Parts: sequence; structure tokens; C-alpha cells
Amino acid sequence: MTSKSISLRYTDAGQGPPLVFLHGFPLNRKVWHRQIEALRSSYRVIAPDLRGLGDNEAQPGPTTMAQCAADLHTLLQQLATGRVVLIGHSMGGYVALAFVRQFPEMLRGLVLVSTKAGQDSAEAAAGRRAMAKKVEAEGVQAVVDAMAPKMLAADKQDARMIADVLGLMATSRPAGVIGALLGMAERPDSTALLVQLAVPTLVVTGADDTLIPPSESEALAGAIRNAQLKVLPHAGHLVAFEQPDEFNHVLKEWLRRADLASSDESN
Ligand code: MLT
Repeated sequence: MTSKSISLRYTDAGQGPPLVFLHGFPLNRKVWHRQIEALRSSYRVIAPDLRGLGDNEAQPGPTTMAQCAADLHTLLQQLATGRVVLIGHSMGGYVALAFVRQFPEMLRGLVLVSTKAGQDSAEAAAGRRAMAKKVEAEGVQAVVDAMAPKMLAADKQDARMIADVLGLMATSRPAGVIGALLGMAERPDSTALLVQLAVPTLVVTGADDTLIPPSESEALAGAIRNAQLKVLPHAGHLVAFEQPDEFNHVLKEWLRRADLASSDESN
């Protein structure tokens, strides 16, 4: 059962066509700070913390992707954005696809970053439930330890960047992390949605992503009509964080070419 949508903490910066950034797990909206700074001079950039994460309250129980999409819809109504370009990274991409399913009329464009449309295998879902139990017993550090080695490209030696990623993950609260794990485990398959997508779509991934390998992004781009695929070198799972200048350049160019850099006449 989907509980009612909640108010999210968010960043809302700049003016222009709205771009909405959805972070991955177990992160928060601060992971997008280099995108917010680079784009706010030409766009209205909105970045919420997803339910249970970042500055939001964390409630017990699973956080479904459908609930996260409903929370986002409520926020966009409050902010009177009209149609938006939605940019979702990893779990944020799962939420973006749930949003496509529930609120297709709200979309102008879609950017899927290091994510996938398929649901968890039985084994992967069981692994998430086991990790949820571990977080309950040991705290968030259990998930930080498991994920930290998979976030950046393997050859990444930048100590400051590694510390920043660890810091972003470590501030997540156990109930929110557990909720997201259980919610991801029960998310439905979104593959059938891809052929119905009728908005410009960009798919971006890091060449060295081991958490969601580039083959997943290739499959996404192959299934979506006219999708553009960009595989950025020297980047792992957190491609936009690790290679912000390159990522921002790719995003800006795509927005311009897809005619999304000026305001939506239909709003
Ligand atoms: C994420 O980065 O959001 C997660 O790793 C996604 C996942 O675990 O499937």
C-alpha cells in the first residue's frame, strides 16, 4: 500500500527551465552540488532529498519508489514548476522511472544516470533484506563499508573525493537506509515503460561503473526511442560527482540540442 506523500527537504536554485535532480543510495541532494552550481545561471535547478534520506525524517518501513515519485509530484505541484527535465542517478533513476509510470504528463525530458530498468533478482532482493537487517544491528556503517569501494573508478586516488563520498553516505540515518533497501528490493520491472517514452532521453554512465555496469545503460539507451548514450571515461558509479565538468558539459549540450534549454511553451 502506498502511504500519502510527504514534504521533502530540497534545494531550489536559479531561474529558467526546471531541471530536477534525484540522488542515489545511500546519498542525499548534496551529491549534486557541482551540477547545481554549474546550471543555476541558466536553469531552475531543483534537488530534493528522497524520502527518509538527507534532511528528511526517516520513518520505519519500506520506502517504495512509487512513494518517492508521489512525494516528488507533490513537491513539483507546490513549486508550480510545470513540466520538468528529470535527472535520476541509480536509485534516483528507479524513482524517475516510477515517476514516468505515474506522472508522464509532467515530463519534458529524462536523463538516466548509471541506472537500470530491471527489477532485482530474487538473490539481489534477498541480499538487500539481509543488508537491512545488518544496518538494523550495526548501523549505517555496514552499508557504507559495502558500497564505498564501488562508488568511484577503481584507479581513483583522490583522497578528498573519497572522504567526501564517505561523508555523504555516513550522514544517512539507519531507518532511511533500511527503508530504501526494502523499497528497492520490491520495485517493479520498468522495462516495458521504455518503449513508451516519448520525451527526449539521455543515458549517461561511467565506463568503470562496477555497481551498475555500462551494459545496463547500453540496454536502456537501446530500448528508448532516439535516446542518446554517453559513457564517460575515468568514472565509476558516481559519474556526475567524479567527473563533474565532463558530465555538466554533456548535459548542457544535450539540453541545447534537444531543445530543452529554453522555457516550455506548453506550461
Ligand atoms: C544507488 O547507487 O542508488 C544504488 O546502488 C542502486 C542499487 O543498489 O541498486
